Amino acid sequence: MKVKNALKVTVVCSQLLLAASAFAAETKSADIFYYNLTDSFIANLDRILTQKGSEQGVDFKKYNALDDAFAQSETIDIALADKENKPLLINLVDSTYANELLTSLPKDSDRQIIFFNRDISDSALASYDNAWFVGASPRESGRYQADILVSYLKAHPDYDKNKNGVLDLVMLKGEETHLDAVLRTQEVLKVLNEQGIKYKVVFSANANWQFQKGFDFMDQAVSSLTFNNIEAVVCNNDAMAMGAITDLNQYGYNLDDANKYIPVLGIDAIPEARQAVKEGRMLGTVCNDATKLSEVLVTMVKLGSKDPAEISKAIGLPVENKRISIPYHQICNAQ
Ligand code: BGC
Repeated sequence: MKVKNALKVTVVCSQLLLAASAFAAETKSADIFYYNLTDSFIANLDRILTQKGSEQGVDFKKYNALDDAFAQSETIDIALADKENKPLLINLVDSTYANELLTSLPKDSDRQIIFFNRDISDSALASYDNAWFVGASPRESGRYQADILVSYLKAHPDYDKNKNGVLDLVMLKGEETHLDAVLRTQEVLKVLNEQGIKYKVVFSANANWQFQKGFDFMDQAVSSLTFNNIEAVVCNNDAMAMGAITDLNQYGYNLDDANKYIPVLGIDAIPEARQAVKEGRMLGTVCNDATKLSEVLVTMVKLGSKDPAEISKAIGLPVENKRISIPYHQICNAQ
């Protein structure tokens, strides 16, 4: 009996060991370089990516550059010098650094390097075989955002509060050179033109994706223009929109009084913005799909393939010229 039990224990133990070693073989490590973890979208992405990584056996070592391009290039250089050849996931502070980084790699390097969120040039991407970009189309998000605004305006023909014949618009934009900021803004204005909605941008500022700057610029707009002359606030992201809404709230706007409401729009669908939309403090947001982005990054690391067709099959999205575009959505999955 005792012998039988001992045998059973040995069999169970060796099965466990086998399972553990199979899991170990499955586990992968990757280094991830964030441009700035104080950015609300990036912080939310990190939360989801970490969770997806631990579910799929990908262990991330994270670096936060806090928007310091020099510090980030130093950290990336150190990671490149290690012998482990771990995949690198890079969210660049300065997109132009991609070129220097990729051309400095040894000729025989086959390390997987995936840039995400902050776009890099086609020429940089083409300069190294195993480089990829995972992002999203800024124009698509601008168009979705404009669609929400246009539907609102059509449902509220009295939107022209000061009766000057145009929609008086406040634009809060992201970083001046970031394509998401430039193209989202262009697209919103283009859609308004297409829809025959006359508008005037009465206040415009680069609030650099930040809540505090959104708050401060909204306050400037309110004090220089007064509430009656602001008919919509379009923000290139949710953090700035939340800053603007928080500012409006302190004057009793966008709370319970229907006469004190200015439509504010953002992009990203971070949890705070979804809550504000639910509570009626914010008109709308567009889902910058951090869940799908995380799934794609984790799958690519696990797969480790350089074959676009194989990658495309695994992630369920096209791979075109080493670029993968995550679709935006008007409605988000709850996360
Ligand atoms: C997001 C912004 C974010 C930026 C950072 C954009 O795609 O919409 O919220 O600040 O990426 O690069």
